[in-house]
Amino acid sequence: MPEDKLTILVTGGAGYIGSHAVLALQQAGYEVIVLDNLSYGHREIVEQVLKVKLIVGDTSDRALLNEIFTTHKIAAVMHFAAFIAVGESVSEPGKYYHNNVAGTLTLLEAMVAASIKKFVFSSTCALYGVPKFVPITEDHPQDPISPYATTKWMVERILSDFDTAYDFKSVCFRYFNAAGANPDGLLGEDHAPETHLIPLVLLTAMQKRDVISILGTDYPTRDGTCIRDYIHVADLAQAHVLGLDYLLKGGNSDVFNLGNGSGFSVREVIEAAKKITGREIKTEERDRRAGDPPALVGSSDKARKILGWNPQYPDINEIIAHAWQWHQKRHA
Ligand SMILES: NC(=O)c1ccc[n+]([C@@H]2O[C@H](COP(=O)([O-])OP(=O)(O)OC[C@H]3O[C@@H](n4cnc5c(N)ncnc54)[C@H](O)[C@@H]3O)[C@@H](O)[C@H]2O)c1
Repeated sequence: MPEDKLTILVTGGAGYIGSHAVLALQQAGYEVIVLDNLSYGHREIVEQVLKVKLIVGDTSDRALLNEIFTTHKIAAVMHFAAFIAVGESVSEPGKYYHNNVAGTLTLLEAMVAASIKKFVFSSTCALYGVPKFVPITEDHPQDPISPYATTKWMVERILSDFDTAYDFKSVCFRYFNAAGANPDGLLGEDHAPETHLIPLVLLTAMQKRDVISILGTDYPTRDGTCIRDYIHVADLAQAHVLGLDYLLKGGNSDVFNLGNGSGFSVREVIEAAKKITGREIKTEERDRRAGDPPALVGSSDKARKILGWNPQYPDINEIIAHAWQWHQKRHA
């Protein structure tokens, strides 16, 4: 824990993963300021649950960023703010390049101008594209197949160039599927629209949705459905604190996968959710969705070795149980 409280600016801290990171930062002894435009985030989570300062604004607002960086002594920035819907990025790519690339570039330039040169970035395993081997390691070839994934790939390239030019140090975390919720039920996943499997399954269990679609049942996997690597959001948040500590201690720029290392199929997730909720979950089998690889499973050995990351909740049952606890509270 740092001796003097350092202040970290968390962009997107009103969102799903960002809010869990804010909590982990507080628990690690950091002061936090959240910058979020509330396009998808939740004001009450920041103000009433986390009780940290919320600046409602956009990462593309250079004047606002200059003001933040001159009025607060910011030690580092954790950058979660982005648009995240892969399908929408295909139909509206400009929206994604503007927000995720141009918005981030504005933030990075403002940081350099203010001599703040430590940055933790939410990247994605989607930049690997269709895997050539699993588990995917950080040196796997990069071949993003959606505009969303390309925006993250581009930011990683920008960060590398900023390091060369300005000695700007960053940690890029390439997440697999973030899932679960704060184990104490304080925070959870509340995307609108929701596109992620576990909340969709739980919303179906709650009869907020009629049916969960299984997209493809003829993949070369153990039960024919897609296999994904679900990583508990509290473990992701912990990794961010470790990445920040690493940078603050003078660590060099680096990239790390954050995954569970074991994959679960769509059918396995649904079966686990049936047991945990004790409810019926109606399913329908549909055709494959374009661009979905059969299995996406990551190796996080590097994060474990270099950052000392040790995920606490690798069990899919626990991940779903925490998500279920949150969903019941959220939709009570
Ligand atoms: N959820 C996942 O499984 C997953 C996987 C890989 C990577 N990621 C990355 O993690 C990050 C967080 O994802 P999430 O699931 O918490 O999403 P989220 O939508 O819940 O959170 C993103 C937050 O950023 C805010 N925001 C968006 N654009 C902004 C801008 N220009 N200025 C200020 N605020 C802005 C939104 O209001 C929202 O609160 C994203 O960068 C995403 O690409 C998520």
